[in-house]
Amino acid sequence: METSKNCESRVTFYFDGNLMKARRGQTIAGALMANGIRKLGLSRKLQQARGVFCASGRCYSCFVSVNGLDHVLSCMTLVEEGANVYSNNGDPDLRRLVNGN
Ligand code: FES
Repeated sequence: METSKNCESRVTFYFDGNLMKARRGQTIAGALMANGIRKLGLSRKLQQARGVFCASGRCYSCFVSVNGLDHVLSCMTLVEEGANVYSNNGDPDLRRLVNGN
């Protein structure tokens, strides 16, 4: 049973257009992992799956786009209510031209 205090500590956001739930104070990476998302993008050169590796802001493997801002470290950024998070699949400029995000 949810109390009003529990409801206040929850936020919703979008990942690649899909609604996700999170707890206030979680990092984007943590919230995505809690929602079953492991793949955060593709490497530029070899197009291999990338995701959380160090979880401490050192490896740059967890880049995502947040509210139009590219190259956000998801393991170091707290999730915010209504945030639009997109995976980093390829060059952000090309993706923006194709998808408009
Ligand atoms: S997982 Fe290494 S910088 Fe985010």
